[in-house]
This record gives sequence, C-alpha cells and structure tokens, in this order.
Amino acid sequence: MANPSLLILAGDGIGPEVMAEVKKIIGWFDAKRGIRFDVSEDLVGGAAYDVHGTPLHDSTMAKAQEVDAVLLGAVGGPKYDKLDFSVKPERGLLRLRKEMDLFSNLRPAQCFDALADFSSLKREVVAGLDIVIVRELTSGVYFGEPRGIFTEGNERVGINTQRYTESEIARVARSAFELARRRNNKVCSMEKANVMESGILWREVVQEVHDKEYPDVELSHMYADAGAMQLCRWPKQFDVIVTDNLFGDLLSDAAAMLTGSLGMLPSASLGAPMANGRPKALYEPVHGSAPDIAGQGKANPIACILSFAMALRYSFDMGAEADRLEKAVEKVLADGVRTADLMGPEGGVPVSTSGMGDAVIAALDASL
Ligand code: NAD
Ligand code: IPM
Ligand code: MN
Repeated sequence: MANPSLLILAGDGIGPEVMAEVKKIIGWFDAKRGIRFDVSEDLVGGAAYDVHGTPLHDSTMAKAQEVDAVLLGAVGGPKYDKLDFSVKPERGLLRLRKEMDLFSNLRPAQCFDALADFSSLKREVVAGLDIVIVRELTSGVYFGEPRGIFTEGNERVGINTQRYTESEIARVARSAFELARRRNNKVCSMEKANVMESGILWREVVQEVHDKEYPDVELSHMYADAGAMQLCRWPKQFDVIVTDNLFGDLLSDAAAMLTGSLGMLPSASLGAPMANGRPKALYEPVHGSAPDIAGQGKANPIACILSFAMALRYSFDMGAEADRLEKAVEKVLADGVRTADLMGPEGGVPVSTSGMGDAVIAALDASL
C-alpha cells in the first residue's frame, strides 16, 4: 500500500522554525516506528508571494487537494503588511480553507499539569482543563458578500457581511456533537442571538440538529460575550464549544492563555470525508508568524508538534502514536524543559526551538 501523503507548507516567520522540529519528529516515526509518509513541501503566504507574486500558487492548491493531509506553519509578517489585500499572505491560508471546504476547525485547549502555575489564571481555574473549541471556518463574516471598501457620499465605508446558511450551521453542529460523544458529551453553542439575525438562526439550527439527531448530548447556549467571560471565570464548565468563524477566532486565542502560551495550541481543520473515508484536512498551530521573535530560535514548537499529533489521530488513524507523541510532550514539560514563552518565576531548563524538538525526540525514544 502507498505511504500516506503529507504536504508541508511552512510559511513565514516562525513557521519554518517550528516546522523544522515537526520534520525531525516525522523522521523519528520513520526511523523508529517504521511509519513512513510521502512528504512534499511547498510555499504559502509571504514566502509564496516572494516567488510567485501570489500567496498560494494554483499548483500548490492542487497538491493540497490531493494529499491525505496538509501541515501548515504560519503566514504573514510586517514585510507584507502594505501589500494589496488580494495578495496578502493570510489570503493564501483562507483560500486553502475555503477551497478544501474545511468547515470544522477543532481547537483543543488543554492545560498540562506542569504549566498550571504558569497560566495568568489561578492554578485551580486551569489545572486539568481539557476543552475543544469547534470553530466554523469557511463562512460567516470572513467570506460573506457584499464586502469591500466603497465610497458613500464623500466618505469611505468598509463592509463585511455575516452570513450563514442552515446547512453550514448544521454541518459544523454535527461535527461538534460527534466530537462531544467521544468526550464528555456536552456542547455549548455560542453566538449573539440577542443582536444578530445570523445568531438567531445559529441557535435554532443547532437546537434542531440536537433534538433530531443528538438528543443524548447535553446542549446549552450562551451569548459569545458572556462565553468569553465564562472562559476566563471557570473554563472547566465546558467540554465542546461550537461557534462561528469570527467568535471562534477570538475565543480560541483567549483559550490559549488558559494553557499558558499561544505557543501550545494546535488545531485541525476538517472537511468532508475523502475516498479513503478520512476527512480532508489541514493541521496548523493556532498562533501566527510571531514576527517579534522570528529568526531568534525562541519560538515554542509544541503547538505545531501537537498539530502533527492531531494529524496522526484524525487523518491517519494512528491514535496510539498520537498518544505517544502527546505523552512525550507532557513528559518534557513535566521535566521543566521550557522555551522562553513558558519560562515563569519558578524557572526551568531553558531551551531554544530546536532544543525543545530534541527534548521531545528524547522523550519519544524513552517511550519505546
Ligand atoms: P502571533 O500569534 O504571531 O503572535 C502573538 C504573540 O504570541 C507574539 O508576542 C508572539 O511572539 C507570541 N507567539 C506566537 N506564537 C508563539 C510561539 N510558537 N512561541 C512563542 N511565542 C509565540 O499573532 P500576531 O502578532 O497578531 O500576528 C503576526 C502575523 O501572523 C500577522 O501577519 C497575522 O496575520 C499572522 N497570523 C497568522 C496565523 C496563521 O498563519 N494561522 C494566525 C494568527 C496570525
Ligand atoms: C487564525 C488566524 C487567521 C484567522 C488569519 C491569519 C487568517 O488568526 O488561524 O486564527 O483569522 O482565521
Ligand atoms: Mn486567530
């Protein structure tokens, strides 16, 4: 049987730095576990713009459609801030999400015990935290029409449109309910039905899907602003949160700080099943290209490494190997190994990006 295929798009800023550590780990699975991937690499974001004048070349888009999974680092950076909107690095990522139809973005926020004192929230608030935000990723205000900057009278007006169809809401709701059934069986749906019609429809459709197809799952609804507050007040009340594209973007960055650092949060963007029964998928850390620390060996590669663990689980049916990798990360953190973003007053063993990757490899070796 052919090896499973992986397309690596490292991107910009710290993207290539954290991806280098994932490549070491892919090499480890090959050498030590006999798990071989057909890996190809290509450009995305500013790196693609520099070569092709576009943040995602059509040939890269075509490759992404063919492989079993895409792994992405990060895109964007100050060098590209002045570019025309249509060719900004972020457009490359948005095109991948849209054309691959990756409507369900799983953003787990898990607080490793070793980092519970490091979060800006109290230990008892975050210790043992294990929640997943399911963010709708291909619609809403990110893609709705009309959009643009227009002239109205003698001034400019910027327009974006929040738009959701019933079927778009229903499919992401199903994905959240399915996930909840494999976890603690609880879904909290967040919108602003008090001020937005799209929020009213969101709440109705999530409730209908629940009542018809998932009555066994505990469902609650919350306004997204109150949800943000509850996430900081007592996040352990949640299991799975399902929400729209923009609210999910904001809530997942907030959830990152419950785990200690944005450098800890992985994500899986999943679409419809392919011929092999596995979903079309792209895996990426939640963080961006971190221009303030790029090129200095300071970036924490754990979010990208855990994104690869999600790929093992969701795209390659290798749950046991995903567990092995996640446990290796947990062990490294328990041993006090810390990139700069994780270094608190209690200290630890300071490491660079590659030092963290090496420590995870050593922990993987120890797992054999
Ligand atoms: P960012 O996530 O890049 O950085 C926010 C802060 O978190 C910075 O202080 C950064 O140093 C820190 N940080 C992020 N990842 C880290 C890591 N792995 N290790 C240690 N520290 C880390 O967000 P930003 O500064 O708002 O955006 C920078 C650029 O990245 C922008 O161009 C933005 O559009 C882009 N961006 C891309 C993605 C993506 O590719 N998925 C996501 C978010 C932002
Ligand atoms: C994310 C990022 C992206 C988003 C940008 C870079 C397009 O913030 O993945 O969270 O807004 O979705
Ligand atoms: Mn974001």
